[in-house]
Amino acid sequence: MLASALLLLSGCREDMQNQPYYRPLRESDFYADKRSARPIIAGTVARGHLNADTYFYTGKLGSNDGDYMPFPVTAEVMARGQQRFNIYCAPCHSELGDGNGMIVQRGYKRPPSYNTDRLRKAPIGYFFDVMTNGFGAMPDYAGQVPAQDRWAIAAYIRALQLSQHATESDVPPGQQIAQQPPPGVVIMPPYDTQGATTATSTPPKPNAAPAKGGEAKP
Ligand code: HEC
Repeated sequence: MLASALLLLSGCREDMQNQPYYRPLRESDFYADKRSARPIIAGTVARGHLNADTYFYTGKLGSNDGDYMPFPVTAEVMARGQQRFNIYCAPCHSELGDGNGMIVQRGYKRPPSYNTDRLRKAPIGYFFDVMTNGFGAMPDYAGQVPAQDRWAIAAYIRALQLSQHATESDVPPGQQIAQQPPPGVVIMPPYDTQGATTATSTPPKPNAAPAKGGEAKP
């Protein structure tokens, strides 16, 4: 009984195992071009690869680099950009973007600082393009870093550049920290930790007169 059941089952499998098929790239008499591997129909787009938004995927408007982000830059986007930058770019460019990363310290070609005038003036699409296609000695990162993240990194590079060139007018109104105490406020001399914690044979020197803003002169 069991044996005949097994026979029956294997009989069923037989047909499926022997389906006609071509070994990859083997010749075929069925098609006029003799190729069993059929070419992809013109205009075929792989699932998830309809890169219809050319700016998002190239950073270019026509043949020029564009200078705007293709999506809004939120705090989340910046945090993501910072994280991805520190993983993929900082090993060479350093976390500051000055081009002094660890790989460079060990002998790799030194990239320019992001804070040169040329790169500060470069449109944001340029940074996207360098990541997408590489630049000179630098390999491209299109394989490791998806387009969305490449934009986030580009936005973060802008923040790195701004961090070295910010002026007082970049601080939103109402958020500046006053440089002077309000009139009538008495500034105490700074607490002398040296004299308080170490017992010395010579008496501590009297404190220097407090500087403006309450800081002792060195
Ligand atoms: C393996 C080291 C390395 C890594 C990692 C790296 N770069 Fe570079 N990058 C370079 C070098 C080297 C150059 C200079 C290339 C040259 O001039 O031949 C460069 C140049 C650049 C430039 C300037 C191009 C110009 O016009 O001078 C930008 C922008 C840049 N990289 C962005 C990035 C970003 C963004 C990442 C991270 C996704 C990254 N790089 C990762 C090595 C690296």
